[in-house]
Amino acid sequence: MCGIVGYIGEKEAYPILIKGLARLEYRGYDSAGVAMLEDGEISLFKTKGKVSDLTDKVNGHKPESTIGIGHTRWATHGPPNDVNAHPHTSNSGNLVIIHNGIIENYDALKKALTEKGYTFQSDTDTEVLINLIEEVKTSQNVPLAEAVRMALHQVIGAYAIAILEKDNPDVIVAARKGSPLVVGVGDGEFFLASDASPFLEFTRNAVYLEDGEIAILRRGEKLQVKTIENDEIEPYIHELQMNLEAIEKGGYEHFMLKEIFEQPKSIYDTLRGRLLPDQQLIVMSGVEEYAQKMLNAERFIFIACGTSWHAGLVAEYIFEEYLRIPVEVEYASEFRYRNPVVSEKDVVFAISQSGETADTLAAIELAKSKGATIFGICNVVGSSIARASDAGAYTHAGPEIGVASTKAFTAQVSVLTLIALKLAQKKGTLPVKRFVDLCYELEGISAKVEKALQTDALTEKIAAEFKNSRNFLYLGRGFNFPVALEGALKLKEISYIHAEGYPAAEMKHGPIALIDEEMPVVVIATKGPNFEKVKSNIQEVKARKGRIIAIVTEGDTEIKDMADYTIEVPEVSQSLSPIVNTIPLQLLSYHIAVMRGCNVDQPRNLAKSVTVE
Ligand code: G6P
Repeated sequence: MCGIVGYIGEKEAYPILIKGLARLEYRGYDSAGVAMLEDGEISLFKTKGKVSDLTDKVNGHKPESTIGIGHTRWATHGPPNDVNAHPHTSNSGNLVIIHNGIIENYDALKKALTEKGYTFQSDTDTEVLINLIEEVKTSQNVPLAEAVRMALHQVIGAYAIAILEKDNPDVIVAARKGSPLVVGVGDGEFFLASDASPFLEFTRNAVYLEDGEIAILRRGEKLQVKTIENDEIEPYIHELQMNLEAIEKGGYEHFMLKEIFEQPKSIYDTLRGRLLPDQQLIVMSGVEEYAQKMLNAERFIFIACGTSWHAGLVAEYIFEEYLRIPVEVEYASEFRYRNPVVSEKDVVFAISQSGETADTLAAIELAKSKGATIFGICNVVGSSIARASDAGAYTHAGPEIGVASTKAFTAQVSVLTLIALKLAQKKGTLPVKRFVDLCYELEGISAKVEKALQTDALTEKIAAEFKNSRNFLYLGRGFNFPVALEGALKLKEISYIHAEGYPAAEMKHGPIALIDEEMPVVVIATKGPNFEKVKSNIQEVKARKGRIIAIVTEGDTEIKDMADYTIEVPEVSQSLSPIVNTIPLQLLSYHIAVMRGCNVDQPRNLAKSVTVE
């Protein structure tokens, strides 16, 4: 949800900003812009479209400057166009801002500023904010950092902002509340970004700003951080562990494909050091610390959005099966607004790849206020949700850049399976032999995922046949019902084909009416207790001339006779099967999207990290 970047130091700012914006483009990509200070003037370039459109626009005018800010946008206020693109300047032309977030009281602020004579070019809340800062700065006659601090007291909403001042080429002022912001501390230079990826090749030292903090980046001086209450903070410098290859495509055509193929490794990384079957041991310090609380919980509530919500649904089946504790799975956006019944006896699992999703964060705050214990399952280390949780477990899937989530999903399911197994062992709800068998099977799941990836060529062939379909139905039962939902979501997100995921038996209560010879129906029909039932569901589709693409267990002969296509995956116990069965569905969506000429890594209207509600 909007990416922001900044640089101040000895180097040329423009190439750093552009490269940084390209790395942050997963956050939003409907318009882009940069502002730099050059010879006492603000050079500003912005355009609707992607970062590549911006570089085309700048072409030939490249500003020579060692200080600048840049922005890639996911529109909230006002349509994506050149005027609404960031950066935005104040009325006097002295200040320029980039912003990620939403100023909720912008309308009231705008009215008050209009009465004072301010005018606005764009529809954005951001332009209101920069003029508010200008108003405070001129009326109070204070330096920029102080004006920002004072102005933010009047602001309701979420923001990560960075501001330049025309007459002061030696400072960038930044602030955060609710939207991520990290300062890279180099040798005589500072970087600023929504995540650390723009400055990985320059410095490993990063300061993650907390909500309500303001950073003052002065050329050649120490980083100054203060709160909006004006308390000085000693910045804590993290050493980044991420490597550069992890955020590059590594020879793949798209990040999504790279991330799909990374899954054997990402799952292995998720389990590494935690799952020790030989010792009948699962090592997870966060779970250990809260184990009693969890085992005494009346229920678990899983809160998430999008694909992470689907991981929560899979985990519901796993937790209830292994642990016999009731689980509820909630969309964070619904939970936070429906006065939920939550108490200190509940344990809330917040599941989020980015760790920044605004609705999930707000749901956590609500659950906390009612006394629940919060356990975070995040991929991004140090993210807001990770920090807002009482304890947690990282998924360790590595950076996920493709907007459609793939490896984060399988890592989330893997880590949740580990937690369920660990708690079940403590509670004694799984016979020892079953516990040990499941541990060994989980240890071997990466190899099975590797094998499932061999369906790539077949899914490409199937994609060629169905790429022009207008609708798809995805069916699954039990543990694989959420896999059907996730398969349908992947297809919708990146190929813009309408798709619905349904519990296979529920089909006859509605979706069956849609089935005709045009309708591809993807059925997860791997071996398991529901196999015979799913077979009957396939017959029901066939009787109405639907076209069946079935995910089946290796060596299956029964479904082959009924389905138009079968995709074989290795045999796995049903509780672990979602991790394997989801692989061909990811590949199918990917190939269909590529064949339809869609931008798989940056699908229209979507963003990777949704930091606004
Ligand atoms: C966006 C992304 C999805 C993701 C969802 C939740 O919609 O496009 O891929 O599943 O947000 O994000 P989170 O980071 O909380 O998992």
